[in-house]
Amino acid sequence: MELTEAIKSRRSVRAFTDRTVPAEWVRDILDHARLSASGGNLQPWRVHVVTGETRARIVAAALRAHEAGETRNPFPVYPPGLWEPYRTRRRDAGTLRFQALGETGRTAEGTDHMARLNYGFFGAPVGLFFFLEPRMEPSQWTDLGLFLQNVMLLCRDRGLSSCPQAVWSTVSHVVRPILGEPEANVLVAGMSVGFADEDDPLAKLQTDRADVDSFTTFHD
Ligand SMILES: Cc1cc2nc3c(=O)[nH]c(=O)nc-3n(C[C@H](O)[C@H](O)[C@H](O)COP(=O)(O)O)c2cc1C
Repeated sequence: MELTEAIKSRRSVRAFTDRTVPAEWVRDILDHARLSASGGNLQPWRVHVVTGETRARIVAAALRAHEAGETRNPFPVYPPGLWEPYRTRRRDAGTLRFQALGETGRTAEGTDHMARLNYGFFGAPVGLFFFLEPRMEPSQWTDLGLFLQNVMLLCRDRGLSSCPQAVWSTVSHVVRPILGEPEANVLVAGMSVGFADEDDPLAKLQTDRADVDSFTTFHD
């Protein structure tokens, strides 16, 4: 797939079929994602791939934590008191999701349903977890972002879809022991990977983007 097409066709997909993703595809995706740039070539990412039994254990543990009200916020995903235009953008993206669930807006039931879907990897057969060591600085968080984008675009190249998920940080305390990841390390994001269930509205959400001129100043 051409790069521009991969960028244009990437969307956060929140409904997957149970079609198996060959294990060698995931390794190959990571084998290319590792070519990502990183400041000082630190390559700070630590990745776990979960399928099968381990995936099932993690989903069960995450749902248990959710049901028991034992989720946490080890780091703020958004700045407090989000301001415009970010506040509206976030709200609009959420509204799209809730509408796809058949809700008119953000309700308690809808929020609970969306959390359960998240913790179930939206039905995707492959889950990825991305960790950083706690001493890493904002620059290394940037590096991890580049790596995540590489993974998502490489997924498109193989006909796969993905959804990056910061929500996994809220249950990192139950995920980390299952993965054997050192307790101090930061679970920055998870990611669902699989074949999109094209019939599901949650696989077809189209979010807006601001024009180039709204965020760019060209200097001559
Ligand atoms: C770092 C990061 C974390 C995200 N976390 C979640 C998440 O926990 N759950 C979710 O459903 N979507 C999550 N998203 C997806 C965003 O909501 C999505 O990228 C945004 O609305 C734009 O839509 P698009 O990816 O379909 O273009 C995350 C995206 C990024 C980049």
